[in-house]
Amino acid sequence: MNVAAAADAIRRGLLVGMPTETVYGLAANALDARAVLSVFEAKGRPRFDPLIVHCADVAMARTVAHFSPRAERLAALWPGPLTLVLPRLPCIPDAVTAGLDSVAVRIPDHPLALALIRAAGVPLAAPSANRFGRISPTTATHVAEQLGEAVAGILDGGPCRIGVESTVLRPDPSPIVLRPGGVTREQLAQALGEPVALADRNARSAALPQEAPGMLASHYAPRAPLRLRAAGEAWPADAALLAFTGADLPSGAVSAVLSRTGDLPEAAANLFALLRRLDATAPRAIVAELVPDSGLGEAINDRLRRAAGLG
Ligand code: TXA
Ligand code: MG
Repeated sequence: MNVAAAADAIRRGLLVGMPTETVYGLAANALDARAVLSVFEAKGRPRFDPLIVHCADVAMARTVAHFSPRAERLAALWPGPLTLVLPRLPCIPDAVTAGLDSVAVRIPDHPLALALIRAAGVPLAAPSANRFGRISPTTATHVAEQLGEAVAGILDGGPCRIGVESTVLRPDPSPIVLRPGGVTREQLAQALGEPVALADRNARSAALPQEAPGMLASHYAPRAPLRLRAAGEAWPADAALLAFTGADLPSGAVSAVLSRTGDLPEAAANLFALLRRLDATAPRAIVAELVPDSGLGEAINDRLRRAAGLG
């Protein structure tokens, strides 16, 4: 599907598979409550889990949310993998925010996403284009496999550059990351000139659904049970193995390596596609090791823990 046809489908209240720099989104007109409700239906997503509104530029973002001084500073990181949770303005229907008085907004850094939003002329509500609780899609084929029936079409932008979802940040009253993602806390702290907290995972899971329901344990799960390799544990022989650099992988094992050189951006870009590849071998179990917990490692480890069902 091309951008003009996709924009036409959006204006008619239909759903479109949209590439972004993070993962593919399932996009609908954010101002059309009926279209937004069909997103929840297509994904099998509970209505209490609010959606991100994707805008083409800051001027459009200002029509959906109120910008505080901190939000203004963070908008300098757009377009990019950063979602801001801000006070919502009245044009956004309750279906998008699950009735919250805040709305999640971002400007994606992908030419096809930006072209689609501009051509449609409306902000787009888009969750990741996977069935609820499954692995997020980083190629158009992934979207077609899980949601091909539900969409009017898919814009194929090739594999996603970042590979993990955007960082969800609430700037006020003090900046806190609700979901680690493609922008690191170091980058956020630098843009703000103050420290940025990370919401405690367990507290957040308990506080859900009202705060960040997408962070429920067992999100991003493959079909095979996934567990984390314990520190010092040898790789097991009877599972599919997901390694960071693969230096100590046994030969002959069903395995995948996130980044041979230990590069965290490369590891993030590979994460979901490799999880799918291992899952497709129908293993008894998948065993994955955590990566260093700095920079993008925070987002990667968050997704691995959730795939393992740990809050
Ligand atoms: O990178 C991304 O963010 C991708 C691409 C498609 O843009 N989208 C994405 O959407 O990951 P989704 O729906 O899978 O995750 C949205 C996250 C959820 O954790 C949700 O709970 C949180 O954003 N969220 C949305 N609105 C919120 C709000 N008003 N307050 C707090 N959290 C909110
Ligand atoms: Mg998602």
